[in-house]
Amino acid sequence: MFQKNLLKDKVILITGGGTGLGRSMALGFAELGADIAICGRRKDVLEEAAKEIEKVGAHSRAPVQVFYDTCDVRKPDEVEKMVDGVFKKFGRLSGLVNNAAGNFICPTEYLSPNGFDAIVKIVLYGAFNCTQAVGKRWIGAYTAGGPAAGGRVLSICTTYAWTGSAFVVPSACAKAGVLAMTQSLAVEWAKYKIRLNAVAPGPFKTEQAWNNLMPEGFEEKMLKRNPLGRTGKHEELANLASYLMSDQAEYINGECVTIDGGEWIQGAGEFNGLLDLTPEDWMKLKMKAEGMKKK
Ligand code: HXC
Ligand code: NAP
Repeated sequence: MFQKNLLKDKVILITGGGTGLGRSMALGFAELGADIAICGRRKDVLEEAAKEIEKVGAHSRAPVQVFYDTCDVRKPDEVEKMVDGVFKKFGRLSGLVNNAAGNFICPTEYLSPNGFDAIVKIVLYGAFNCTQAVGKRWIGAYTAGGPAAGGRVLSICTTYAWTGSAFVVPSACAKAGVLAMTQSLAVEWAKYKIRLNAVAPGPFKTEQAWNNLMPEGFEEKMLKRNPLGRTGKHEELANLASYLMSDQAEYINGECVTIDGGEWIQGAGEFNGLLDLTPEDWMKLKMKAEGMKKK
């Protein structure tokens, strides 16, 4: 759906790019010609993903370059070192995807302080640490009048960033914070040619999400609440992210694009539960209404 090499000349850093949706976005960007940097805590996972990204990127132009480094996004010093490594390798960075996350389901009364801390530190502090680390460098380049000035940040949120959700309170609080950061900096940093957006995916099958968040029987229930009755395809998210990271989306700033098949809005509409009614039920209702009119 995109012009070939849409992301040629772009260098994009994806946190948590070794697995799941981060990996799929990295593959999508590489296919469109971007050079890629990924980070996470496990070296073997990153190494394996880097090889796959290089292979895919080889089809787009000769050959895309991939950088990886282990880094715990909760730790500002590790983030600084990792971002330094990216700039050293490529000399510049065009975009950051804040994708790294942790999550689990737990009745909130049983959460330990450390459990809350772990998730909020990865999701919110991690996104802040990475955004600030790259933002400082972009602002420095802009004020110095450098040719590669400017940048774009895409944060992976969730639809419950604004609705909240039972049993994932740490994640909901953190994602809401990431959205607030996105909207705040979209205004504060626009003058440096930095734009920030977010996406709010509904359910997309990944190993970790399904292992950690789906008790038996929950997937079927979840799909029943989805107007399209299915999970998202990874390439659907990668396509949206590619557009938002491209030069074609320069006027989109501070936005959060939902990609959930209409799931959250189905849960929100007062009368959406009537989707269960059959045509016969509707006919009976119509006749009843007509009968009442005659009276
Ligand atoms: C209660 C839990 C817990 C659980 C961990 N903890 N898992 N508490 N229920 N299931 C507590 C631990 O007891 C500990 O507190 C604290 O959290 C930190 O745990 P550690 O294992 O030491 O921490 P760490 O290694 O830093 O990471 C833990 C983790 C990680 C973040 C949960 O295992 C992880 O990343 N898991 C999966 C990632 C994931 O879910 N990805 C999919 C994201 S999908 P104490 O007090 O004991 O020390 C998503 C959107 C969902 O986010 C939308 C779907 C539609
Ligand atoms: P995932 O495979 O678990 O991805 C999370 C990645 O983050 C992993 O590669 C993990 O690597 C990395 N990570 C975790 N803690 C880190 C830390 N402290 N420092 C650096 N990296 C860290 O899960 P996913 O399903 O693909 O989720 C990706 C993103 O999409 C997340 O932001 C998630 O909230 C969001 N999302 C997912 C869904 C869904 O249905 N899957 C829905 C809505 C939103 P290491 O463990 O090696 O560090």
